[in-house]
Amino acid sequence: MIKIHDLEFEAFIDRDDIDDRVGEIGYELTRKFEFENPLFLGMLSGAFVFMADIIREFDGDCEVQFVKYYSYDGTKSTDSLNEVIGVDDSVKDRTVILIEDIVDSGKTLQKFLPQLYSKGPKHVEVVSLLTKPTAFQHDIQIDHVGFEIEDVFVVGYGLDYNGYGRNLQAIYKKR
Ligand code: IMP
Ligand code: MG
Repeated sequence: MIKIHDLEFEAFIDRDDIDDRVGEIGYELTRKFEFENPLFLGMLSGAFVFMADIIREFDGDCEVQFVKYYSYDGTKSTDSLNEVIGVDDSVKDRTVILIEDIVDSGKTLQKFLPQLYSKGPKHVEVVSLLTKPTAFQHDIQIDHVGFEIEDVFVVGYGLDYNGYGRNLQAIYKKR
């Protein structure tokens, strides 16, 4: 059991299970895009740990970039999507592999994907380490999912609760 701010969290997905899944997804991406020179596009901040691991499971030439948007306030998803670092023209004609930490309401992707497509990528492949059941209420493409979890707030392995918990090795859920 661990405490972050006012909340208590308990062990949920252990490090070995994360590593196994990251290895499997990396292998799938390699098979599909080995000769495509893909551009890995990480959604900051939450995806930075997953991104660091997944690119090292990719066996081929690739480039790495990040974007940063936020819609979250504490443990709640909000309606607006604020851009901090947007997507630039370098995605044009590229195979883009978008790396997300978690898709919850799906609002971030629903708003971000049209912006990405408007820059003219050749292909967009969406990868999310985690999804919640609510993620599938919208018609959003998610091509690779690490773990489908229940509707519970989680931290660790890059995911935070109001800024903290990102450095935890494993994933913990709110009690
Ligand atoms: P969505 O727009 O509701 O799909 O939320 C996407 C973003 O909210 C994710 O990229 C996370 O940064 C954040 N988020 C959603 N659920 C959680 C959670 O359980 N823990 C930590 N962050 C979360
Ligand atoms: Mg976040």
